[in-house]
Amino acid sequence: MARLSRYVQHTSGGQRAKHMTVKRPPGTTRLDSGTPSFPTPPHISQAAKDAIDAGYTFYAPGYGEPELLEAICETIHKEAGAEYTPDEVFATNGASSGIYTVMTAFLDPGDEAILMDPTFSLYAHVIEQLGAVPVYVPHNDEYHIDVDAVRAAVTDKTRLILFCNPNNPSGVVYRREALQGLTELCAEKDLFLISDEAYEKILQPGYEHVPLLSFTEHRDRIILLNSFSKTYSMTGWRLGYMVTPPGLTSILFGVHRSINGPICSFVQMAGAAALRGSQECVAEMAREYHKRGSLMYRLAGEIPGMVPIQPQGGFYLYCRYELPLPSKEVNQRIWEAGVAARSGSEFGTTGEGHLRFTYSVDEATIEKGMGIVRQVFEQLA
Ligand SMILES: Cc1ncc(COP(=O)(O)O)c(C=O)c1O
Repeated sequence: MARLSRYVQHTSGGQRAKHMTVKRPPGTTRLDSGTPSFPTPPHISQAAKDAIDAGYTFYAPGYGEPELLEAICETIHKEAGAEYTPDEVFATNGASSGIYTVMTAFLDPGDEAILMDPTFSLYAHVIEQLGAVPVYVPHNDEYHIDVDAVRAAVTDKTRLILFCNPNNPSGVVYRREALQGLTELCAEKDLFLISDEAYEKILQPGYEHVPLLSFTEHRDRIILLNSFSKTYSMTGWRLGYMVTPPGLTSILFGVHRSINGPICSFVQMAGAAALRGSQECVAEMAREYHKRGSLMYRLAGEIPGMVPIQPQGGFYLYCRYELPLPSKEVNQRIWEAGVAARSGSEFGTTGEGHLRFTYSVDEATIEKGMGIVRQVFEQLA
C-alpha cells in the first residue's frame, strides 16, 4: 500500500471525492451536478476557433493573454467601480485552481481558515489537504452571514476568510452590510478576505450582487476568484481568474504556475469574447434559471417534511427536511430510487438535515426527479 501524506490520507475518499468518481447507473436523474444544461454561446465558441486559426496554440504569456486581462479589468471597472490593471490579475483553471492557490499561498499546517457554514465543499478539502484547519461559522437563521459569529471565531491562528457569493449550496445572495462588516473585521484583524463569485450573474429577479472588489478602500486585503464556468456555461473550458491585492500578484501567480502551467491560449481568447460580447446570452440563461428555480421550489415545497429555501442566486435549491435520518442516508435512499442529489453534510457541519438539488437541468428532469424524491419522502415518513 502506497504511503500517502498525512494530510492526503485525511482527505482522500471523503464525501466530495467519492461523489466525483461514483458510477451512476444509466437512467439516473441528475439533480446533483454543477453543470449548466445550456450549450456554450456560439459567439464564444467561434472566438476560440478563430483564435486557433490565428495561432493561439502556444504557451500564453505571463499572467495571461493581454486581451483577456484587459477585458477582465474593464469588467471590474464597469461592475465594481474599481480600477485594476492587467498586472494585478491572472488567468486560472476555473475558480478551482484559484481556490487551491490562495490556500497554498497563505496557510501553514495548523493555521485556521474561516468558512461560512454551509459552503462549497472544495474549500475545506483543500484546507485540510494542506494540514490547516477549516473553521466553519454557521449562518444565521436566514442563511445569511452572521458577522458577530465570524468575529467570535477569529483566533491568533486565523489567516483568511473565504466565502462564495451567491452561496453554494444555499443559493443565498449576501447583503452589502454583511460584506462591509467582513471587510472591516479583516482590516481590524489583519486577515485576507476572499470572495468566490462564480455565480454572480445568476440571480433571481429582485436580487443584487455586491462585488467584493467594490469595497475599494480594502483593496490591500481583498481577493476575487471568478469563473467563466457557470455564467457562460463553459464548465469544460476550464477558465477563471484571480484579482489580487497590490504587491501579491507575482507571488500568487507563482503558486498557481507551479501546479497549473499557463492556461490554454485560445480558451483565454474565448473568455475575452465572452466578457466583451453581448451579455444577452447570460440574461437569457438567468431567465431560464428563474423558471426552473421557481418550479423546483414549488415541487419541493409540496413534499411533506421538506422545507426549501427560496432561490436567490446560483442554481441550487437547498432544503431542510424533517425526517429523523442523517442526510447521507436520505441521500442514499434517493440515489437508490434513481435520483442523484447532494447530502447537506458535504457542505459543513450545519448541513446535516439538509439536501441540495440542482436546477441547472431542464424542467422535465426537475419534474421527474422531484416526483421520485417525493415518493421516497412518503415512504420514509
Ligand atoms: C462556489 C463555487 N466556486 C467554484 C467552483 C468551481 O468551478 P470552476 O473551477 O469550474 O470555475 C464551483 C463549482 O461548482 C462552485 O460552486
